[in-house]
Amino acid sequence: MHKHHSALGLAKAPGNSARGIALDQRPVQPVTLIRPHAAARAARFFVEKFPGRSMYAVKANPSPELIQILWDSGITHYDVASIAEVRLVRRTLPDATLCFMHPVKAEEAIHEAYFTHGVKTFSLDSIEELDKIVRATHGASDLTLCVRLRVSSEHSKLSLASKFGVAPGESKELLFQARQTADALGICFHVGSQAMTPAAYAEAMERVRQAIVEAGVTVDVVDVGGGFPSTYPGMEPPPLEHYFETIHRAFESLPISYSAELWAEPGRALCAEYSSIIVRVEKRRGDELYINDGAYGALFDAAHIAWRFPVTLLREPDSNARDMAFSFYGPTCDDLDHMRGPFMLPADVRAGDYLEIGMLGAYGSAMRTAFNGFGSDETVIVDDEPMASLYLSEDREVASNVVKL
Ligand SMILES: Cc1ncc(COP(=O)(O)O)c(C=O)c1O
Repeated sequence: MHKHHSALGLAKAPGNSARGIALDQRPVQPVTLIRPHAAARAARFFVEKFPGRSMYAVKANPSPELIQILWDSGITHYDVASIAEVRLVRRTLPDATLCFMHPVKAEEAIHEAYFTHGVKTFSLDSIEELDKIVRATHGASDLTLCVRLRVSSEHSKLSLASKFGVAPGESKELLFQARQTADALGICFHVGSQAMTPAAYAEAMERVRQAIVEAGVTVDVVDVGGGFPSTYPGMEPPPLEHYFETIHRAFESLPISYSAELWAEPGRALCAEYSSIIVRVEKRRGDELYINDGAYGALFDAAHIAWRFPVTLLREPDSNARDMAFSFYGPTCDDLDHMRGPFMLPADVRAGDYLEIGMLGAYGSAMRTAFNGFGSDETVIVDDEPMASLYLSEDREVASNVVKL
């Protein structure tokens, strides 16, 4: 395949579009497309419109190129969850502020993060973790400690309600103890990923209020976590401004000081539009398409939690057949490599056709493996628009209409 190398060190496509690459180059391996302009647009949106500080949750897509794009677009803070993520962001962005927001950390990881990489913000959900942080930082007096509350994930597509967070009614002692240790005390939560209504945040903020009142402590930071949605077939959320307004109103009415800060940790919303893939159909069996990427590649969520991604047929001339529902098989040898969809494509799709599968920038690219000898690192920068967007005006009008209905 022809490549031109860009400043990012990645291949720049001669065609500069998904269609151009598929039709001009007919790639044998799946190709990851990246759209720096889409990530930059999402970052600028959060920087300008979120009524507080937006820190990028690196786990959603740890690509150094993406992290650099977000920094260049005004994202200065990064939510990291492992020591490898700490090192990666520090290597890429020496001046970024890193916040270690995994509530259960190795003591060695805390030590290295604090002493080697200058990390001063940590989350926790137990007294044991507080003790660990105190030991690992040798009793540091410049820490921001964020106590993670357990909140409901009922409005979200992916639950984060079981594993972490102190339960309602049990946060008093931990908030009190953390207050003694911390220079700044925060409260954080996560409403679950792909929260489909702003009410998720309003309800969680009510929990924050109860926790502050019960503990009677001064809180310096309220961190509403991630969960900000992107748009996928059958999962079209209200405009992000509605989320921001709800959060702002709830924050303003909390019993906290005038100087308290509002933070968020968006992952998905900042990077979903950043990348997509081109795959080739290797075989058709009725309404099942055998494609060359799958459950062990960028389509983990499509296989394991039946997430639906937008798909389009890249063929010249365009098919004029009516759409029908397909499911996909990935390239490996086991039945698990199956994505039930439904994925809507023209009824005459056949072996040899190319498809673009969109909105894979979050938790898609990040989860790829080379299992069974499949998977490809071929990555190309394109400048066409993502298959859907929460940040483009036409799609934003559609989203507003959905809300009005
Ligand atoms: C602590 C924390 N913050 C932020 C995120 C990012 O969430 P999202 O991608 O839903 O915005 C996650 C995701 O698991 C998380 O665990």
